[in-house]
Amino acid sequence: MTALRIAVANQKGGTGKTTLTINLAAGFHRRGPTVLLDADPQGSAGHWAQVGGANNDLPPVQGIEAGEARAGILRASRSSRYVLVDCPPHLQSDTLHQVMGSVDLVLIPVQPSPLDLWASVDMTLAVQAARVGNPNLRAYMVLNQLDGRNALSRSMHQALAEFEVPVLANGLARRAAFRSAALEGGSVYRLGGRGAYAVQDVEAVIEEVLKL
Ligand SMILES: Nc1ncnc2c1ncn2[C@@H]1O[C@H](COP(=O)(O)OP(=O)(O)OP(=O)(O)O)[C@@H](O)[C@H]1O
Ligand SMILES: [Mg+2]
Repeated sequence: MTALRIAVANQKGGTGKTTLTINLAAGFHRRGPTVLLDADPQGSAGHWAQVGGANNDLPPVQGIEAGEARAGILRASRSSRYVLVDCPPHLQSDTLHQVMGSVDLVLIPVQPSPLDLWASVDMTLAVQAARVGNPNLRAYMVLNQLDGRNALSRSMHQALAEFEVPVLANGLARRAAFRSAALEGGSVYRLGGRGAYAVQDVEAVIEEVLKL
């Protein structure tokens, strides 16, 4: 089985890495065997899955020990169609280096403000560095916490245009369903009508990723 390996990373904290990883993992899991690797020593993805208990809708979540990221991704790729990796909010550790050297695609969640985007500039440098050893690595930013009522500001469009890393056409809106899913320990797919719009956001990102 050839796995599609996707890391969700941003050295800036709180941009939605874990939220995006968990919900993408649930969506990919509906399409084929999926493993979610938690490379963040905070263990957020693991905690999230534990809250939901045995009957949550998430794929198996495995923690990655420091220094073991490459081996962990390789192992997961042998038994899965999709491998999702939630990354820690810093660039210093060897973990992120190993992860970016071992995946096909890096998704970088950013909030739709120029300040947040500029705070992620180090990620674009990390992507360039990773391409030395992993030349086929693709990288895209994913806008998170979009406010449906406002189009992107002109300054945001300008800032995006100056970045080396392109942005996906689809992103996640700011929705209570994403917070509820975290509190309940599952993904937005499990929320029924309450999660319908959030599921549409996640599905649009997945379909776009599958066509890259
Ligand atoms: N699209 C969204 N709509 C509503 N709330 C969101 C959305 N995305 C993220 N959040 C909320 O924002 C907070 C930060 O999200 P999350 O924990 O996913 O970020 P993170 O990048 O993984 O953080 P860290 O850097 O600490 O690992 C959480 O409370 C989460 O519920
Ligand atoms: Mg996180």
